[in-house]
Parts: sequence; structure tokens; C-alpha cells
Amino acid sequence: MAYIKMNYIEEIKRLKKEKNAIILTHCYQNIDLDEISDFVGDSFYLSKKAQETNADIIVFAGVSFMAQSAKLLNPDKKVLLPNLNSGCFMADMLDVEQLKEFKSKYPQMPVVCYINSTAEIKAECDICCTSSNALKVIKSLGAKEILFVPDTYLGKWVEKKLGNIKIHTYNGFCPTHLRIRPEDIDIARINYPNAKILAHPECHQSVSKKADFVGSTKEIMEFAIKSQNKEFVIATEKGVLDRLKRDCPEKKFHLIKEDIICKNMKWNSVEDIYFALLNERYEIKISEQIRKKAFECINNMMEACKQ
Ligand code: 13P
Ligand code: SF4
Repeated sequence: MAYIKMNYIEEIKRLKKEKNAIILTHCYQNIDLDEISDFVGDSFYLSKKAQETNADIIVFAGVSFMAQSAKLLNPDKKVLLPNLNSGCFMADMLDVEQLKEFKSKYPQMPVVCYINSTAEIKAECDICCTSSNALKVIKSLGAKEILFVPDTYLGKWVEKKLGNIKIHTYNGFCPTHLRIRPEDIDIARINYPNAKILAHPECHQSVSKKADFVGSTKEIMEFAIKSQNKEFVIATEKGVLDRLKRDCPEKKFHLIKEDIICKNMKWNSVEDIYFALLNERYEIKISEQIRKKAFECINNMMEACKQ
């Protein structure tokens, strides 16, 4: 019997048209997904694209909190996560009970959550932020003191940058970014003396302090593309490096060290996306009670970032 190999890419393109679907892809995902994606970027950029779309189906090639955020902004659309293994270690570090205990230590303070959190956590917070808008969002509150969950390092980075706001942080972190040590920056300076070092604010503050630029995944990519410099060391997940190498073949890029890879971000395959679209499977569901409260939290971020 003749074996016919399925052309997933062509089938996905056909299904997208047939079902009025779009694919949103985070820049840590496997780079082969870009060919079938409508938008590739950081978590804020993708949230904006999710909010703007007229599509009936959003396939989110990212991790679950990103797909949940798209669903919060689009309660009437179908949001699909192609592979259910796609969680986030940091988001899973904080549950509602832990949040309530943390809040009880600092009553009456605005509570800001990083978008890397579950819908249940967002439902208990005043506003959320991403790494690209954290400074703007936190400044917009006009508060002298706030609580920030779950990422302690993003919170500390914002506190240092703003200078006049006390930020009490929960002790969550990203295991992938914490693998980058300050001595890795020192070694990179010796090995690549002409390179600019670009880091994500989820890195430990001893790393961010030594970097030439700190920003979200998309901001790191934009910085490298626009810069006059010809060589860069990337201190974030490898997906950013892979895309920069592809998009700027005339420049040199190095990963700060081997294996800065978020395994959670690598589950979604072209095949998973095909089956997600075909069977409309792994739909994100959020109870109405949680959705209403979590929507307020994420919508407050979108409003704060309009100005
Ligand atoms: P960005 O907001 O920069 O896309 O970061 C999301 C993330 O999970 C980084 O680890
Ligand atoms: Fe979560 Fe870290 Fe992976 Fe980002 S890199 S999705 S914070 S585990």
C-alpha cells in the first residue's frame, strides 16, 4: 500500500483559512513553527494581537498562561493550546492559598501579578504586567508600595529601575533564567569583548546589573536588529538566539551558555498544531466566576498601556 506523507504545513494553512483561525507564537517556541504563524513575539505583543483579531479560533503556540490570557481577552473565541504539557514552572510556583497568605502580610497594598501566572491568581490581583510593560504598569498605579507576584527578579529589577517605589516580591523565579550566573557574563566579556550582552529581566539581579541591555524577548530582538553593533551575547532562552541568527545573518550571536532552553516552551510541534486545528482540541476553559475577575486584572494592564 502506498504511504502518503501528510504535508502538515499546507494542511495547516488550508485549515486556518477554512476555520478563520490564527496562530500566535511566542519567540521561545521551536523556530519551525514561524512558517505557519501569523504573529511571533513576546507575551504582551501576542496579548495585543489576541485582543485585536477577528478570527474565530486562536491557536496559541506558547505556554498555558499565554493561552489563558488570550482566552480572558476573548471569551467568545475558541483558544487552543496544541500540547497540554506546555506549562510554566514560574506560574506554577504560586497558588491562591499562597497568594492570600502573602497578601495578609501586607494588607491594603495594590497587588500586581506578572502575566506568568494562572487565571486564578489574576482573579485575586489588581493588575498584571509583562516584562515589556512592567515599568509603565507599576508607575501608573501611583503607589509608594506594592506587592508583586510571582517573579521576585522582575519585581526587584522594576524596583531598581523606578527607584521610588517599594516592591515586596513573592519568592517565585524562572529556573531557566536562574541558570545564568553573573560569572557567565564575566566569561562572555572575555570571550566576546566586542559583543553587547542582552538579558531578560527574569535573570537574577546580579546578571541584569552586568548586562548592556535588559528587556523582554521581543525588545531584545529589536535591540539587536536596530543596533549598530555587530556582535551580541543573548542571556535568555535559545529561541531568541535562533530567530536572530535567521533574521540577521550579517551579525554574530552567541548564547550566554549552553542549554538555556525552557523545556515547557518546546512541546508544541507542527503536528500538534495540525491536530489542534483539525479537531479543535485542547480548548482553554475558564469558569465564568474566575474569568470575570481575571479579565479585570488583564484589562487593567491593556488600559494602562494604551496611554
Ligand atoms: P516575554 O514577556 O519577554 O515574552 O517573556 C515571557 C517569558 O515567559 C519569559 O520567560
Ligand atoms: Fe516559564 Fe521560565 Fe519557561 Fe518563561 S522561560 S515560560 S518563565 S519556565
